[in-house]
Amino acid sequence: MTIDYVHGYSELESRRLGDQANALAALLHGGTSYPAGSRVLEVGCGIGAQTAHLVASSPGARIVAVDVNEASLAQARDRVLATSPDAEVEWHCADLFELPFPDASFDHLFVCFVLEHLADPHRALVELRRLLRPGGTITAIEGDHGSVLFHPDSAHARAAIDCQVRLQALAGGDACTGRKLQPLLANAGYGGITVRARPVYADQNLPELVEGFTRNTFIAMVESVGDDALAAGLTTPDDWHRGVADLRRTAEAGGTFQYTFFKAVAVNGS
Ligand SMILES: C[S@@+](CC[C@H](N)C(=O)[O-])C[C@H]1O[C@@H](n2cnc3c(N)ncnc32)[C@H](O)[C@@H]1O
Repeated sequence: MTIDYVHGYSELESRRLGDQANALAALLHGGTSYPAGSRVLEVGCGIGAQTAHLVASSPGARIVAVDVNEASLAQARDRVLATSPDAEVEWHCADLFELPFPDASFDHLFVCFVLEHLADPHRALVELRRLLRPGGTITAIEGDHGSVLFHPDSAHARAAIDCQVRLQALAGGDACTGRKLQPLLANAGYGGITVRARPVYADQNLPELVEGFTRNTFIAMVESVGDDALAAGLTTPDDWHRGVADLRRTAEAGGTFQYTFFKAVAVNGS
């Protein structure tokens, strides 16, 4: 069995991407700021959740954002217009494997939560390197579902998360891409690679992260695949409801949740 893009393009998913980007902005965008005048390509911008932060932290950069989904791009335009009305972002609907840009036409690439959805992330990174000028950089950010720690522990909750991992694999992706960023970039010919693990931890003393990350980003993502997991025979209704209920307990008083993102920066050259 194969399935389409695991997260889909629903209104709920748009809200989830926005919550995720806002809750994690300091964690994921910290250290990323592009000089005025530099040409930056954001690949797989989705609804512009990260674009809004790129624009805010690199106000003079010339940002070009692409996504293969036209409806997401329309939302991205609206989002950036609402948050940074003066920003001049160029929007393109295109497949990242067939981007209509000349060789070496960008100084920097930014790719967040996209490689994990591709059947061939190696080919994507090779193709993207063509667009980078020598000495230009790529920033790639990915999560890794193998990094989840939570309390109270629950085999049912772990099984629910595993449904998401398996559905993503059936769609051709890999929910554990974070740990593979260094070899992926090295094998695609990039140099000067630095990868940093960026863990996010939330408990009741960090209510904004519990709401913005544990509940509205991670648990919402797992919950959204319930119908597909049942249709694929990966779980039963009882097991699924128990798993989701147990996951929700990690966002209540006394519950804790940790997840690790990986942020890589690499150079086109040595
Ligand atoms: C999980 S979303 C991440 C969106 C955004 N980067 C963020 O962090 O909010 C993945 C995005 O990659 C896009 N995508 C997947 N495959 C693509 C391809 N071959 N070319 C361009 N975009 C692609 C999807 O349409 C989707 O918008």
